[in-house]
Amino acid sequence: MTPDEFRRAGHRLIDWIADYRASLAEGPVLAAVEPGQVSAGLPAEPPSDVAELDELLGLLDRVVVPGLTQVQHPMHFGWFPSNASLASVLGDLASSGIGSLGISWESSPALTEVEEVMCDWMRQLTGLSSAWSGTIQDTASTACLVALLTARERATDHGQARGGLPAAERQPVVYTTSQAHSSVRKAALLAGYGADNLRVVDHDAAYAMDPVALAEAMEADAAAGRQPAAVVATVGTTGTTAMDPVAAIVDVAAGHGAWVHVDAAMAGTAMLVPECRPLWDGVEGADSVTWNPHKWMGTILDTSLYYVRDVEHLVRVMSTNPSYLRSTRDGEVTQYRDWGLPLGRRFRSLKLLFHLRLDGVESIRERVRRDLANARWLADRVEEAEGWELVAPVPLQTICVRHRPSPDLDGEDLDRHTLAWVDDINRSGDAYLTPSILDDRWMVRVSVGVESTERSHVERLWDRMQDAVDRVTDRATIPGP
Ligand SMILES: Cc1ncc(COP(=O)(O)O)c(C=O)c1O
Repeated sequence: MTPDEFRRAGHRLIDWIADYRASLAEGPVLAAVEPGQVSAGLPAEPPSDVAELDELLGLLDRVVVPGLTQVQHPMHFGWFPSNASLASVLGDLASSGIGSLGISWESSPALTEVEEVMCDWMRQLTGLSSAWSGTIQDTASTACLVALLTARERATDHGQARGGLPAAERQPVVYTTSQAHSSVRKAALLAGYGADNLRVVDHDAAYAMDPVALAEAMEADAAAGRQPAAVVATVGTTGTTAMDPVAAIVDVAAGHGAWVHVDAAMAGTAMLVPECRPLWDGVEGADSVTWNPHKWMGTILDTSLYYVRDVEHLVRVMSTNPSYLRSTRDGEVTQYRDWGLPLGRRFRSLKLLFHLRLDGVESIRERVRRDLANARWLADRVEEAEGWELVAPVPLQTICVRHRPSPDLDGEDLDRHTLAWVDDINRSGDAYLTPSILDDRWMVRVSVGVESTERSHVERLWDRMQDAVDRVTDRATIPGP
């Protein structure tokens, strides 16, 4: 494809995207396809002819769009907001169009330095001190793996350069709660700690880590000859947006020299507004922090910020420095390949640059405040309404609810009722909510924060929820684990 052909096709594709975005709210939220339906719409064998753009646009309309659960839909209240601001989409397009190769500073000085500046802008915008240096990882899962690898190496005094974990005198241990994201366990296992060295620390009634229980667990491990190596504190847990008390955790961890990683994947966006920052009080004492602008803030996937205080340690753990990548500028410049797992990186920071400059920081902050107020509005309705209950505090934009048609309905009967009413909403396509298990019982998470979700949509959702509980019978089956 020549640049001129690209120009013509690109204009049409942009028109297609704009039309798609403008009309997606007219369709259902949940993809109404059966497994295998999308793949059946594609040729089973690679075609040997050359397609016209029209054919591909037709394929998007016919095959792809029906197979999308519309997370940009204003009635999407599932999982978490996975916003994709169109300003950041333009940045993504610029990144792809430039086609830069990020394997060293020399291979793309602009890629490196725009990323440095964007991470620093984001640091300032969330009130972190200048002690932090940032990079962009693909996801919070990868960031957590990097954190636990660097924690492991600190705990073992760089054991990877000798016999690795099998040779460690004291087995390093990781601490988190049952409310942490599944990526924490995955990272601990992949980093070689082993399931036996992953402690699930008790949480309080608000689902936040109990620092006394943490202290006891660390002391018990130290007394048994193990090395408390890392705590993963979640600021905004996936299930209920619980806030682990970072300041107290930092204090406890300091007594053992343990690494503290703060996973604020979802809630980091809230730190753009100063009034929310007390929620991660103590963060300055942590060793690493991650959060995802690709969630609520809306800088399209994959944009996960990862900040550390000790860059030298990070680089020592991650650096390989083969001869073909060395340059005369080494020592003067940042080599982001030494800040994480991959060698090659995309020019991801353009997504942040375009998002911040074209939408403007203040409009993003206004949107965050709007979502907080909308969530509060819904939480108040739930609290007031007979038969409804909030099953967890609502510090941000996620509301966890149950409906009990009669006070004595409990156990599996309550589960059936919960799954029935949420299924009634989800299958209809009118809105989408996520059922989830809390304390062994199903509840429903309402995650407010899609860019196009206004108060009127939240009002419509509340009407639909009340309508659903009136209509359902106990017809849902409880899914297996
Ligand atoms: C608290 C928390 N941590 C980590 C993750 C994983 O995020 P990612 O998809 O960026 O790996 C999530 C995703 O929902 C999350 O809520």
